[in-house]
This record gives sequence, structure tokens and C-alpha cells, in this order.
Amino acid sequence: MKKVVIAIDGPAGAGKSTVAKIISQKLNINYIDSGAMYRAITYKVLQKKIDITDENKIIEISRNSDIDFEDNNIYLDGKIVNEEIRDLSVSSLVSNIAQIKEVREVMVSLQRKMGEKYSVIMDGRDIGSYVFPNADYKFFLTASVKERAYRRYIELKSKGYEVTIDEIIKDIENRDKIDSQREFAPLIKADDAIEINTSGKSIDDVVSKILEYIK
Ligand code: DC
Repeated sequence: MKKVVIAIDGPAGAGKSTVAKIISQKLNINYIDSGAMYRAITYKVLQKKIDITDENKIIEISRNSDIDFEDNNIYLDGKIVNEEIRDLSVSSLVSNIAQIKEVREVMVSLQRKMGEKYSVIMDGRDIGSYVFPNADYKFFLTASVKERAYRRYIELKSKGYEVTIDEIIKDIENRDKIDSQREFAPLIKADDAIEINTSGKSIDDVVSKILEYIK
């Protein structure tokens, strides 16, 4: 198969990562969760107890961090942080950190390097619109806030997190707002992306729909 880049964008909880992971296995290509990269930086900022208004310090951290993916694990400075970056403390702050232009520049440059090296399916907010404007395939997944919050609730509960559905709705609405209104590379559907509303659809339905376009 020739090298391909598949972009999957959409708001939090639209099902991007679940669907992208399955497709990566079916096509035997790498899956890159770009949101996990912003989460890793946010986690480090929290760990180091950096003042979250100190943009210069946050930018410095993003420039001096080693972020890598291997076997669906995310490594931050050589340590696997899959679980740590899903904590609600990270979720509620990550959109603010992902607004910082210089932080995005560091992450986008890493993402582009990955897409140049090998075939990838990458999910995020700006993958089809900004990171890979020439991606071979672009999809934009949506779903109602209620459904997205419910999915995230089930996911977090199954991992043992103590959360309420109201907390998650608030977090998702807040992130949607910040992600779509930020100045630099906001959450937006690329003109040539195929939009799929995943409300009421099973994971298998969405995967099949995407594979129909790719094959
Ligand atoms: O997909 P996620 O919920 O793990 O993403 C976490 C945050 O990272 C999200 O609120 C916005 C930001 N993000 C981004 O700005 N650009 C991306 N390509 C991916 C995520």
C-alpha cells in the first residue's frame, strides 16, 4: 500500500480515537492521537506546578519535552503516561494550553514529521484543516453534546474515575468553546472533509462508513 495520511477531526467525545484505533489496525498503519500530545504537555505543566498564566514557561516546557508514540502508548520524556493524561485535572486545562500558538507550532511540527515518515491515521481538531491540508482522506466526526458526554462518562467510569455526567457536560461545552474560538488553527471542518454524525451510530457503523471511502 502506498503511504497514506488519514485525518479524523471533530469535537471531544465524537468517537474519533476509538474509530481511528480500529482503522489503524485494519489498515496496519500507525495511529497518532494528537490530543494526547497537548495533554502530555498539560500534565507536565501540572506536575511541575507551573503557573498556568505563565505562557513563556509553558512554551519552554513544550519545546523541551520529548513526546513519542510506540505501540499505542504515549511517552513523555521516556515514560508512558497513557493514564495520567486522561485525568480530569488535565482535561479541564488542556484547551487553554492548546490555545498557545507557540505550543501548537511545536506539536504540529512533530505531527508533520510523523506523517512524512510513515502512513498514519491521526485524530484531533486541526489535522485536516491545518496540519495536513493535503491529507489523502479527511473525516469530520460530530455528535450531540449529550451523547458525547455520556460516552466519556462511561469511559471514565470504567477506568474507575469518580465523575458526574454534569461535570463532563460542563467540561465538554467549555472545551468546544475554547477549541472552536481560538485564534490559531481552531477546531473546524476542512472544506473537503467528509462529515459523519455519529449520534446513534455504533462504532462498527462508523468504521465501515469510513472504510467504504478509503477502499
Ligand atoms: O482529543 P482530546 O480531547 O484528547 O484533546 C484534548 C485537547 O487538545 C482538546 O480540548 C483540544 C486540544 N487539541 C487541539 O487543540 N488540537 C488537536 N489537534 C488535538 C487536540
